[in-house]
Amino acid sequence: MELKFFDTISELDQYAAQLFATTLANKPHAALGLATGSTPVGIYGKIIEMYQRGEISFRDATTFNLDEYVGLPPEHDQSYAYYMKQHLFAHIDLPGKQAHLPKGTAPDLAAECKEYDRMLEEQPVDIQLLGLGHNGHIGFNEPNGELQGGTHIVELKEETREANARFFGSLDEVPKQAVTMGVGSILKARTVLLVVKGADKAEIVKRALTGPITTECPASLLQTHANVIVLLDKEAGRLL
Ligand code: GLP
Repeated sequence: MELKFFDTISELDQYAAQLFATTLANKPHAALGLATGSTPVGIYGKIIEMYQRGEISFRDATTFNLDEYVGLPPEHDQSYAYYMKQHLFAHIDLPGKQAHLPKGTAPDLAAECKEYDRMLEEQPVDIQLLGLGHNGHIGFNEPNGELQGGTHIVELKEETREANARFFGSLDEVPKQAVTMGVGSILKARTVLLVVKGADKAEIVKRALTGPITTECPASLLQTHANVIVLLDKEAGRLL
């Protein structure tokens, strides 16, 4: 595991954006695993700047997002499809058909999960961007006695709904379920790029990276992966 600490968020975001640029320069057809939440917004901003300067192109890339809320259509302003369009896809040259997110409104969600796994098998992820939930979740893989390997439907924990309620009008509007890539799929990525910012994540960073490997802290399973890069701002990394 390679740990990098940054004095400023801007330097961290630039470093992460550069990793994506390098991946695509070496392999224009790369499959990129993307994440949502507040953490990657600045990274996507830097990627857009690089794109505008002609330093990166997504023309031949494929992207797979980690997760989506069940029941929110792509037009809903809190869906992850909408987030991706707003923060990245509308500003770069990635062809729409090469951008994948699980469909939270698919009539048959079980079939949707299967199809997502099939696509991931076909185009294994080269670099998977991950944020970290306060309870150690990655994607929407919540702490549990057992975890699932493939894409599946998950019941969101109350603490996760509360943490994400800030983006919705009220807690009631936060969906109770999501479709998420499983930890098995996440661990299949050639490189995992875990990004964590802020003092409120310092405890969970310590638990995830140095604590026991347990399904009660899904991010701790990253300790078993051979190629993990962790980018931390000073606050998030202060207990390491
Ligand atoms: C959400 C997402 C995760 C994300 C996490 C942390 O629940 N499903 O992929 O990593 O929250 O979000 P934030 O970066 O806003 O703290």
